[in-house]
Amino acid sequence: MQISEELHRARVTEKTAERCIPAEERPLFHMTPRTGWMNDPNGLSWYKGEYHLFYQYYPYDTVWGPMHWGHAVTRDLIHWDYRPCALAPDSFPDREGGCFSGGAAELPDGRHLLMYTGCRREKHADGTECDVQTQNLATGDGTDYQKYEGNPVLSELDLPAGASRVDFRDPKIWRDADGSWKCVVANRAEDQTGQLLLFTSADAFHWSYICTLAANHGRYGRMWECPDYFEMDGRSVILVSPQDMEADDQGFHAGNNSMCMIGSCREDGSFREEKIQVLDAGIDFYATQTVLTPDGRRVMLGWMQNWDTVPYRLEKAKWFGQVTVPRELSLRGGHLYQNPVRELEQYRYGRVEREHVRIDAQHPLTDPGLSGRALDLTLTIRPEADCRKVALRFAQGEKHYCEVVYRPGENTLTIDRSHSGAVRDVTNSRTAAVSVRGGELKLRLILDRYSAEVFVNDGESVMTMTFYADRKDDRIAALACGSAEVDLTGYTLKI
Ligand code: FRU
Repeated sequence: MQISEELHRARVTEKTAERCIPAEERPLFHMTPRTGWMNDPNGLSWYKGEYHLFYQYYPYDTVWGPMHWGHAVTRDLIHWDYRPCALAPDSFPDREGGCFSGGAAELPDGRHLLMYTGCRREKHADGTECDVQTQNLATGDGTDYQKYEGNPVLSELDLPAGASRVDFRDPKIWRDADGSWKCVVANRAEDQTGQLLLFTSADAFHWSYICTLAANHGRYGRMWECPDYFEMDGRSVILVSPQDMEADDQGFHAGNNSMCMIGSCREDGSFREEKIQVLDAGIDFYATQTVLTPDGRRVMLGWMQNWDTVPYRLEKAKWFGQVTVPRELSLRGGHLYQNPVRELEQYRYGRVEREHVRIDAQHPLTDPGLSGRALDLTLTIRPEADCRKVALRFAQGEKHYCEVVYRPGENTLTIDRSHSGAVRDVTNSRTAAVSVRGGELKLRLILDRYSAEVFVNDGESVMTMTFYADRKDDRIAALACGSAEVDLTGYTLKI
């Protein structure tokens, strides 16, 4: 296949540059870009016996630049292998801004279809400029992709009145049971805040507008990004990442958030919103993707980063940006639960189990069998009447540590990297409400070299953060102010 100069250059660059990144300088099992910069995961899909994951990619530096689509595959959602860069900004709709986020699906003829946003710069006679965003296609065999000659397939001509052509991006594409194709695309409405537009197609190449699926009306931030829409247990679920939010009492923090909307589908195809939920209450989480696995599970992952915390990074590393552990989604009592995919369990070794251990200020819980920077650890906490806090410390060295802190009096959980050796004044800790059942709180920590994901009460809520503590800092301890009884089960993860 003939490839463009831009794509050729990216492929040569990544092949050479990845040799300068030793495996132990990357996370053990969280996906990173082959080299350079990564933001949103894209096009998560099951195709010809493997999961494919693409990502917003700038292979030439560890900062954002004109977007390419990096590419990796996995059979078990844990162990990833890189494939060559899939898309480069080499055609009219995407030449200046690049190939922005989007989705992927398999066509009936067996080709892999990528649907992405092209971002181009338009120059006006008066000297001003603006971005123009359109939706575009590429087809391929799982390694090489050819952009469709009919691009763009959705442009300003397809937009309803008042919809912005500047902010029109991040299509999620899927095929419905009746064989028709659908895509949902994020857009800025006349009120200058986000809305999600629903389109349909008979062949995935010719599209028309159906309706506005959901609208922000100024309630949750400004523009919305990276939408997803699926059915689960008879309910309709939207995942979306709102920009520029104000902190509120539902648990959203100032800045960019990710949220889940649970509801139902109206006759006209639009969404009836019934419940809003914070997707991840930690520091580093944005821009989700989901896939339906062959055995029927809805699996989600996200960019394990937040735009505002980008300055906090591993200094001198030739990669930047990670993807979260893939998470199985389920609905219970109208609430969305997330848990690490069960495939992770085959990589657990050296079980350590301690039950009914009483801890207090003089007696922390440590275990000689428990240390490391890649662990799957479950701590069940039963606070006693005098208990003011219980902290699970990890990545602990002589001076530094990270921790999650439960405060029973407040029913809050705090995830904190302030003492990890961090030297950037970005958000280094975040606190969220947690609920205690039957007098106990259950925390499952998925720890990798540069990240911690804490699943609370079997996935009722999640708090995620990256951290860049010295790799030698690897001790674990549970400490208390006042007393508590804890159970702990821990495994080392080896991939
Ligand atoms: C979200 C986002 C998307 C866009 C992409 C560009 O992080 O802003 O809306 O497609 O990043 O890289």
